[in-house]
Amino acid sequence: MKILVINGPNLNMLGIREPNIYGKETYGDLVAFIEKTAKDLGVEAEVYQSNYEGDIVTKIQEAYGEKDGIVINPAAYTHTSVAILDALKSVAIPTVEVHLSDVTKREDFRQISFVRSACEKTYMGLGFEGYKKAMEYLVKR
Ligand code: DQA
Repeated sequence: MKILVINGPNLNMLGIREPNIYGKETYGDLVAFIEKTAKDLGVEAEVYQSNYEGDIVTKIQEAYGEKDGIVINPAAYTHTSVAILDALKSVAIPTVEVHLSDVTKREDFRQISFVRSACEKTYMGLGFEGYKKAMEYLVKR
């Protein structure tokens, strides 16, 4: 099984950005966590991060016919991007939405997720563990 893990803008700044919200672990720590989880589950995981909406759209399109599942933390694009929603709907690959923080307890502008209707599940507020739960869900599905 091949899983694509996509992280959106500013997630490369983990460890530096708002550690009170996102924790002190770095983006490198997150990649290592996802790679270990993939190894434990016996799946292949490609981990991708971009600060650019169009690059994320292209990455999703390239997953068509190649990947069996997508885990996506679109970061700020969660709350703005019809383009990422349309890309996920286009490829129709089973997808899980993840957020490190619990966005339901944050600002009003974070209460809308454009991508959610293209996702089978959402895990939020669990930190790195949310990525593990998302990958386990895709494996069991
Ligand atoms: C986030 C939540 C978003 O609202 C925010 O813009 C992010 C990260 C999270 O993982 O908690 O960049 O997706």
